[in-house]
Amino acid sequence: MDNLSRRNVLKAGGALGALGALGVVAPAQASTEWTWSPAGSVAGTGVGADPRWVWDEEADRLVASLLDRGDVPKVNELLRTWTKNDQPLPAGLPADLRDFMERARRLPHWADRDKLATAVEFNEKRGLYLGVLYGLASGMMSTVIPKEARAVYYSQGGADMKDRISKTAKLGYDIGSRDAYQPGGEMIVTCVKTRLVHAAVRHLLPQSPYWTKAAEEEIPISQRDMMVTWHSLPTTVMQKLTAWEVPIPAAESEAFLHSWQLGGHLLGIKDEYIPVSWAEADAQAEQVLDPVLAPTPEGVDLADILLNLGADIDGGVLSKPVLGAFTRFLLGDRIAGWLHIPREPIWDPLLNAAWGPFIAVREGLLPFPLAPESYWLFDEFLRRAALLYLSEARPISIEIPDTNRPS
Ligand code: HEM
Repeated sequence: MDNLSRRNVLKAGGALGALGALGVVAPAQASTEWTWSPAGSVAGTGVGADPRWVWDEEADRLVASLLDRGDVPKVNELLRTWTKNDQPLPAGLPADLRDFMERARRLPHWADRDKLATAVEFNEKRGLYLGVLYGLASGMMSTVIPKEARAVYYSQGGADMKDRISKTAKLGYDIGSRDAYQPGGEMIVTCVKTRLVHAAVRHLLPQSPYWTKAAEEEIPISQRDMMVTWHSLPTTVMQKLTAWEVPIPAAESEAFLHSWQLGGHLLGIKDEYIPVSWAEADAQAEQVLDPVLAPTPEGVDLADILLNLGADIDGGVLSKPVLGAFTRFLLGDRIAGWLHIPREPIWDPLLNAAWGPFIAVREGLLPFPLAPESYWLFDEFLRRAALLYLSEARPISIEIPDTNRPS
């Protein structure tokens, strides 16, 4: 593969990650009974209501009112200058919005500075794997989460997937950056803005004739949907790293979880639904994520857009097969089949045979002389994927939509 096409492959990987975070997926979500106990949450207690019927009351009411009042363009313009966690909110915001944002930007009492510092170490050590996993595991998985696929497809951002992906990539970049939740970081800002975006989508999508025809629910992005997407991110990533036998000290694993627990809280997920441990996260994911995965026309279309992202540079000749093979390798034959991803006679066997030893060499678990020939190829892929993942996340303004996708 020449440098140019490899670059494309990796660029596509980064973009995919963005998609995953976004909630780009779509249709009939099999609903299972909610039996997960709030005793396993960061709150430790709660009423235990099925989050399928819980949204984000305060934000939803407020943003619906901003939309009805025609305030959204002015608010977006003002918020473009609000980028850092410790920055005062811009003057001129409507008083009710300012009041809400001042509260929404506060870290919860359970935020743990030491864990956040350890999370920085983890993100720095594991940045290469994280880039690939956010991109190709979480990102492609988002296309087989029916409710997410449909919401993304029919909302305003669905009309320009590249732009949308770069905005979503921003969240993945911000949470992994050194000062994520520190005063000079941007993760708190990104989460609070995204919370407002989701609230707008809840108000707007029910007015889309296309979405109402395709969707099974009246109001999108429930607390349950948000946890489904959350599990497609950190839970899936940690499950893969564990399956690959990447050695991760317990403190780093907990710290990574903590950074995502905080992210969930700032996105408006209620503490009683956020798992307190990986064991609780795995149990919840088994209940809410695994059973809903399914193909939809919107998701298949989105996956195709994602797999073709490298085509700008190499016409898709190399990037598409490689991305397809990685998707099959990471998510399995069933999901690859749903997404109409063809089998790759060279890449499929190569990944199956060489990925395990490649990880073992990288982690110092296998002596270097036994490294497979593909070692450098994979290593180069990871490096470039991580780099491009970061470059996808160039500073971009997350804005509250005030329309749906036009058609
Ligand atoms: C927008 C992240 C859950 C649907 C966004 C954006 C981010 C994001 C960063 C801003 C990007 C932009 O403006 O385009 C996340 C994360 C989630 C989550 C981290 C869970 C932890 C969901 C779920 C759905 C969803 C569950 C739907 C079921 C959307 C839609 C938009 C959006 C439709 C954008 C609307 C537009 O501008 O057209 N999300 N999201 N998200 N998200 Fe999510």
